[in-house]
Amino acid sequence: MKTPRISCGSPPPPLLLLLVLAGVCIDGYKPVIIVHGLFDGPKQFKTLSLFISKTHPGTEVTVIDLYDNLASLKPMWKQVHDFRKAIDSIMRKSPDGVHLLCFSQGGLICRAVLSTTPDHNVHTFISLSSPQAGQYGDTDYLKWVFPECVKRTVFRICYNRLGQKVSICDYWKDPHHISAYLQGNSFLTMLDGDRPHNDMKAWRSNFLRLKKLVLIGGPDDGVITPWQSSHFGFYDSNENIVEMRNQELYKNDTFGLKTLDARGAMAVCVHSGVKHVQWHSNFTVFRSCIERWLT
Ligand SMILES: *[C@@H]1O[C@H](CO)[C@@H](O)[C@H](O)[C@H]1NC(C)=O
Ligand SMILES: *[C@@H]1O[C@H](CO)[C@@H](O)[C@H](O)[C@H]1NC(C)=O
Repeated sequence: MKTPRISCGSPPPPLLLLLVLAGVCIDGYKPVIIVHGLFDGPKQFKTLSLFISKTHPGTEVTVIDLYDNLASLKPMWKQVHDFRKAIDSIMRKSPDGVHLLCFSQGGLICRAVLSTTPDHNVHTFISLSSPQAGQYGDTDYLKWVFPECVKRTVFRICYNRLGQKVSICDYWKDPHHISAYLQGNSFLTMLDGDRPHNDMKAWRSNFLRLKKLVLIGGPDDGVITPWQSSHFGFYDSNENIVEMRNQELYKNDTFGLKTLDARGAMAVCVHSGVKHVQWHSNFTVFRSCIERWLT
């Protein structure tokens, strides 16, 4: 009886081919686009850019130099318009797709860009300590912008046409004045579909072009309030936390969050001991929550 030859598959490829393949992998990191937050700019993202180029050599990293520092208070839709243009031109040069890494307020700018750009090729969207479900808290930032106000009174300034021209009002969500919010807010209400509009279906399918959504935040942030907003959790009218999966906008799947989650396309990363301005410069955070997604 003949013993059958056991095939171990195709013969090994020649060394040259292996080297070429390895080269393709190294060069294959998708470009990373960074969008800064309130009161900062490219300067604050040097460390993060260094982390990326050290761990993934050859990655093209762009920190978009728009609406830096005080200019970051400009209305959100205006910023979204200009950031979209800058992001778009990088996407066009990157047929294999790009990653978006967006910090704080920048995370909402990026979400709006994703929803309103029909043909985007963003692969992974990393939302780094961003008030995705809104902001309601007494913080230093609030004192700098509205020195006369505390969180209980800000709604009086924010929820009208003039107030909506200040970025933080565009995502200020007072849980005790939700009807004023729904009437007077023209940014977050539209993104969330709380204020129905004709483009909701289109925005949802744009958003769902994403392959991965990474939500990063933690309890010692000190600025994002409640900190769970970085993971789409928020206050109810008694200031108790309602987690993302119990939020109306999740259950109704108005902008695609639930679908994305059901697809397994969502990763959540929580770290304690990290203050707001440390998120982008903390190597532990980078290693455990960011690095693996930037391929
Ligand atoms: C969610 O769906 C419920 C029931 O259909 C509806 O009453 C509510 O207005 C919706 N909420 C949002 C935010 O779309
Ligand atoms: C960096 O992150 C680690 C892990 O969460 C945390 O324990 C540490 O306090 C952070 N350091 C700074 C300076 O943020």
